[in-house]
Amino acid sequence: MSETLERWSSRRAFILAVTGAAVGLGNIWRFPYMTGENGGSAFLLLYVAFVLLLGLPVMMAEILIGRAGRRSPMLALTHLARQAGATPHWRWLGLFGVMTVFLILSFYSVVSGWSIEYLIESVNGNFVGLTPDEIGASFNAFLADPLRMTFNHTLFLLLTLSVVAAGVSSGLEKLNNFLMPLLYLLLLVLAGYAVTTDGFGAAAAWLFTPNPSAISVSVVLNAMGHAFFTLAVGACALMAYGAYMPDHQSLPKAVAAVAVLDVTVALLAGIAIFSVVFSQGMDPGEGPGLMFVTLPIAFAELPGGAWWLAIFFLLLLLATWTSSINLAEPIVATLQGAGLRRGRATALVGVAVWAVGMLSVLSFSAMADVHWLGEMTFFDLVTTVPTDVFLPVGGLLIAIFAAWVMPRDTVVRALDAGPRGFRVWQATVRFVSIPLVVIVLVSGLW
Ligand code: PFF
Ligand code: NA
Repeated sequence: MSETLERWSSRRAFILAVTGAAVGLGNIWRFPYMTGENGGSAFLLLYVAFVLLLGLPVMMAEILIGRAGRRSPMLALTHLARQAGATPHWRWLGLFGVMTVFLILSFYSVVSGWSIEYLIESVNGNFVGLTPDEIGASFNAFLADPLRMTFNHTLFLLLTLSVVAAGVSSGLEKLNNFLMPLLYLLLLVLAGYAVTTDGFGAAAAWLFTPNPSAISVSVVLNAMGHAFFTLAVGACALMAYGAYMPDHQSLPKAVAAVAVLDVTVALLAGIAIFSVVFSQGMDPGEGPGLMFVTLPIAFAELPGGAWWLAIFFLLLLLATWTSSINLAEPIVATLQGAGLRRGRATALVGVAVWAVGMLSVLSFSAMADVHWLGEMTFFDLVTTVPTDVFLPVGGLLIAIFAAWVMPRDTVVRALDAGPRGFRVWQATVRFVSIPLVVIVLVSGLW
């Protein structure tokens, strides 16, 4: 995408682009292990509540800023702030977003690299006939091998940046068009299979039976961070996509469609993964390796399992690809706005993200004993703080800007939901979303 006023070719294309950014590791990898570590149904319930009360309204705020500004995030914020007679310092919000997506991309690339490894291994039939214990051991052996990890991290970053360097193009739109339905279909098959296993009952009970006693401040903070992460909200990344939104399209409707898709993908993945966890007597709180251990076990029991597994990792890889392109785009666009050529900006981003990503790679081997903020490895740190703290802070500022600073008429036009839709949105953001983020952040960080 260039700096000109290019548009997504249709309303559907816009929804697909945003869905592409939203659906990724957050749904299939992060949602299950966070749910596992945070008390099952308690986390699920809070996460859905945060998606509705925070994620959706703030997502609208973020996209409408891009749509009203029709520029890359920093420039859009500067322009709109000037228009509203507010301080141009609002542009630093764009830079804060860039820092957030930069940190997220650094580990996103490493974990997406795990999918590459697993794709290759499943094509080679390496999981065929392994016991669950052997599958777990092979994952740990992979983590302990910095060379293989580095190779996959590098490869994934190159895949992402080659698209970004060329400009996020109609090619991506077309890819999204048929990828998303395929991923869905496969998850449906997988969840359908999960229903037949003996772990399904326990998984469903654990996911859906209310368990308020499991709720704690950290569970609430984690659920809020995850709601932002999974919807790709709070880092000005969707702001960049909003700039290309077609003129006549209701923002609330578009955003609701994306959220429904995003939440269902997570639920399907959760059902599939936890059915395996409970039928194998595994620990739901196993952590970031959860998906990489449970899914090979599940597929191993299906006829033609090796192929299903390969197709699954291929689709996961494509889903993470569209998300990581969305993560990289605002960084590159910002450097371009500072005068760099697109190719050079992309290369620079590549080198920097790669280097920081290496700290995550090494967190499982050479740097396993280097601790940050207490007991955390660098990987632990970078997978939690940007998501649980930076995204909500960014989202808060985005919400304040759209609901309190921007002139009413500009917002009404960019929201495209009529005067009543505008009033509902504004009241929700002002009196529900903003106070809620503040309360959770303050009590969580205490
Ligand atoms: N929404 C993506 C996922 O669920 O995998 C991750 C993500 C993309 C987070 C873009 C933040 C972002 F700006
Ligand atoms: Na997501």
